[in-house]
Amino acid sequence: MTTRRDFLRQSASALTASIIIPQALRGKTFIAPAVSASDQLNVALVGCKSMGWYDLEDIMHHPGVNCVALCDIDRGILENRAAEAEKKWGRRPDLYGDYRQMLERQDVDIVVIGTPDHWHCKIMTDACSAGKDVYVEKPAANSIAECDAMVEAQKRYGRVVQVGQQQRSSQMWHEMKHYIDSGQLGRIARVNVWANFSYAAILHPAADGPVPEGVDFDMWLGPAPKRSFNASRFHGAWRMFWDYGGGLLTDWGVHLLDMALWGMDVKGMPRRVVASGDNHAYPENFAETFDTLTVLYEFPDYLIQWNNVTIESGPYGKNYGLEFKGTNGTLVVNREGMEVIPLGDKLEARTWKPTNNEHLDHTTNFIDCVRSRNMQTACPITNGAFCAKYAHIGNIAARTHLSLTYDERKRTFHDKAADRFIIPEYRKPWKL
Ligand SMILES: NC(=O)c1ccc[n+]([C@@H]2O[C@H](COP(=O)([O-])OP(=O)(O)OC[C@H]3O[C@@H](n4cnc5c(N)ncnc54)[C@H](O)[C@@H]3O)[C@@H](O)[C@H]2O)c1
Repeated sequence: MTTRRDFLRQSASALTASIIIPQALRGKTFIAPAVSASDQLNVALVGCKSMGWYDLEDIMHHPGVNCVALCDIDRGILENRAAEAEKKWGRRPDLYGDYRQMLERQDVDIVVIGTPDHWHCKIMTDACSAGKDVYVEKPAANSIAECDAMVEAQKRYGRVVQVGQQQRSSQMWHEMKHYIDSGQLGRIARVNVWANFSYAAILHPAADGPVPEGVDFDMWLGPAPKRSFNASRFHGAWRMFWDYGGGLLTDWGVHLLDMALWGMDVKGMPRRVVASGDNHAYPENFAETFDTLTVLYEFPDYLIQWNNVTIESGPYGKNYGLEFKGTNGTLVVNREGMEVIPLGDKLEARTWKPTNNEHLDHTTNFIDCVRSRNMQTACPITNGAFCAKYAHIGNIAARTHLSLTYDERKRTFHDKAADRFIIPEYRKPWKL
């Protein structure tokens, strides 16, 4: 499909080809604008409250990017963000409550998706089919089938897609990959991944109540089952309820499991997954997802283990992180730094600190890819979907108490109790 920008680019190169700059002006008085008209990019944000806005702010750091539209189901958030946008960038974006109307606009090149997870797939696939490039927040989607649909949409419509797993744009995490690939750790037998955050417990829940003024709650629910409004399942807190998110395993898990899978060069599904989870820390926890969870991903030569608990402490004094345990020593890493702890004298102790702004650089990579039409972004949808599936399979193993093997080609666990989690049932009129 030829988009507005594709058309402008073609016309601009045709125009450039036909312009002859007089000899006297060449390299002297002719000053090109910083970003040509054909390289201007118009961006629209869906889901403005928290992370989506942060994504937009960093995307707006790039020359030639204009925020033309904001969309949210909460009028209060929309108005506040519109005022902020006008103050920051000198132009009030157009406002929408329904992203489908926004997608009809021919002048929108990029759609940023900062909604809860249960909306990612629908909005992303619709945006791709409308010819937009997409920056979609992690986890890619809230189910295995939605992950697959997003990979297919990107391919079918040929759009540039970046998933918000910004550690892929961090120099330090690239150093991690480089160090593991060097083989210095010896044989890696186990990777431990943990994320202990207290926000996974909702201890003083609100009662169901009226929908706040200015909120289109039906549109917030979207494809999820109909239910009455409850503030403790709404903004921010939704990630601890299965209809909208997958708890800490999909929230932090995709960032950290991504690093474990990347580090170990994992390309396919594990041989077997077993898991156990419950609200052990706070049995009165209002959240449906597990405040205490362990998942074991089994591979022929090593194990990857995920742990989360709502008690904010952890190994090496870190409440989240990864350790790669090799026969020569251990590599311990989280966003704040990385350390090699030698075993014996085969390794040198080493430390690293982050050296770049990974989130800003992740948006830079996206904008560069949009301009150059490079589909291989720092975190393409194939990778975002891959990590999200790992997280979902862990949750499914814990919810079913089954030992699972996922057959990616046939898209089945070969077990009805687990298979029922693969494809979510969309509430009408929404269709997957
Ligand atoms: N990359 C990261 O480090 C990172 C960090 C935090 C959150 N996230 C991800 O960002 C996404 C958003 O999380 P959050 O914490 O900002 O959530 P949030 O609840 O604070 O904000 C979500 C926003 O989306 C809006 N929304 C919901 N449904 C909508 C719809 N159909 N149309 C338009 N707007 C809609 C809500 O009204 C709200 O303004 C999640 O997928 C989350 O996992 C990523």
